[in-house]
Amino acid sequence: PLFKMHAHNYSTCGKIRVVLCKLCGSYRLKNGCVIFNDHLLSLVTSGPIVPFKLSDIGEGIMEVTVKEWYVKEGDKVSQFDSICEVQSDKASVTITSRYDGVIKKLYYEVDATALVGTPLVDIETEPGLEVAHEEDVVETPAMSNDEHTHQEIKGHKTQATPAVRRLAMENNIKLSEVVGTGRDGRILKEDILNFLAKQTGAILPPTPFHEIQPPPPPSPSVPLPVISRPVFTGKDSTEPLKGFHKAMVKTMTAALKIPHFGYKDEVDLTRLVQLRKELKGLSEGRGVKLSYMPFFIKAASLGLLHFPILNASVDEAVQNITYKASHNIGLAMDTSQGLLVPNVKNVQLLSVFEIAVELNRMQILGATGQLGTADLTGGTFTLSNIGSIGGTYAKPVILPPEVAIGALGKIQVLPRFNSRDEVVKAHVMNVSWSADHRIIDGATMARFSNLWRDYLENPASMVLDLK
Ligand code: COA
Repeated sequence: PLFKMHAHNYSTCGKIRVVLCKLCGSYRLKNGCVIFNDHLLSLVTSGPIVPFKLSDIGEGIMEVTVKEWYVKEGDKVSQFDSICEVQSDKASVTITSRYDGVIKKLYYEVDATALVGTPLVDIETEPGLEVAHEEDVVETPAMSNDEHTHQEIKGHKTQATPAVRRLAMENNIKLSEVVGTGRDGRILKEDILNFLAKQTGAILPPTPFHEIQPPPPPSPSVPLPVISRPVFTGKDSTEPLKGFHKAMVKTMTAALKIPHFGYKDEVDLTRLVQLRKELKGLSEGRGVKLSYMPFFIKAASLGLLHFPILNASVDEAVQNITYKASHNIGLAMDTSQGLLVPNVKNVQLLSVFEIAVELNRMQILGATGQLGTADLTGGTFTLSNIGSIGGTYAKPVILPPEVAIGALGKIQVLPRFNSRDEVVKAHVMNVSWSADHRIIDGATMARFSNLWRDYLENPASMVLDLK
């Protein structure tokens, strides 16, 4: 009897595809005929060569740039071993093997463009080993539900496509924790997204502190973005725009359609500089670097609670406005791959320290080129701290479909008058806001900016409004 068929031994015998049954060891032709072992043994001992295709990695991504190979021809790989790093215009993704076997061919050079659905590598699969992926699992009608359930539990197997597995992996979700709603408990993309939404959704209660796992302090070995060296090539060179640069072209071209309204102000951060000094050691004691950014981000979220129109999006035809429940505050980040804008999810539910934890995590990922789609999508409002590099004012460009963005200048020590008309040393930072003038008027932007500034100039006042 054939209980369960596994397709890991799909092989071409002439033009005939065969399937090995793991339980009884017989082979089945695609047409359903059963063949006994000895007929096919010589064919399968070396294992069939399977073209391992670049499957759909979501977000409508159709092509990627191959950034790095982790394998070479002749290497042995196991399921889930890293094969290569590819970069789309949205994120960098590690492609893992779906098979146990030997790499026979790499289809692309580094920096070449690979299309979704085309082979990345050929893998000579090992005969007799199981490949636990949805499209490779074939069941005969003879198998009862009980038998099925038993096998799943015994093997702790979860059924999901590679794209779904990858989505789970990118978001650090264990498939075993996700309830599959597909046929026979198969985990679908929606199940992962629902699981993720439950973890990050605005309706969730605030995450208790003890559940936050602060990452280890950034180790000195983490490569930081390097200062570029002078380049003298002696001749012009032209190369295609790829990956994140391509995304920037697309996003910024779309942003140009938005009539930007600009508003700038000065913020006296003297008290915040003092407060951070006091909290920095405490935070570092918990393994987390505390910069000013978490305060800027939290103050923005507290302000957005009063001005939800700034945490909104408009559709392309500018017919509808959606007020976003979550404050997913993006921050422009200078990473090893260039400018990226990951966002801290649900800032309205996070403490300043929890935001710092997130920021530390993202900076480490950014420095090593590992920021994934989950971190890079879903932003609702953006801050760009260009001042950490230098500069006073900027003209930030809105990231559609968001409607507002703020750029922060360098904190400078400058003379200012205090309330008694005395000249004092002040820590001053300039902020430059841009808002979508089709739906946001200057007064709204100015009032929000005042509130944001007040929180930062009197950081203790933030405590009053923290949930
Ligand atoms: N003025 C003065 N000092 C600043 C500052 C500012 N505006 N912003 C940060 N700093 C200080 C920090 O406090 C920290 O000092 P410390 O060592 O005493 O703690 C130091 O500069 C380094 O901070 P950084 O590691 O950059 O952390 P951050 O949380 O302040 O900023 C990023 C994080 C991701 C925003 C930042 O690293 C970055 O990438 N900035 C560039 C953004 C960009 O490219 N914008 C342009 C988009 S077009």
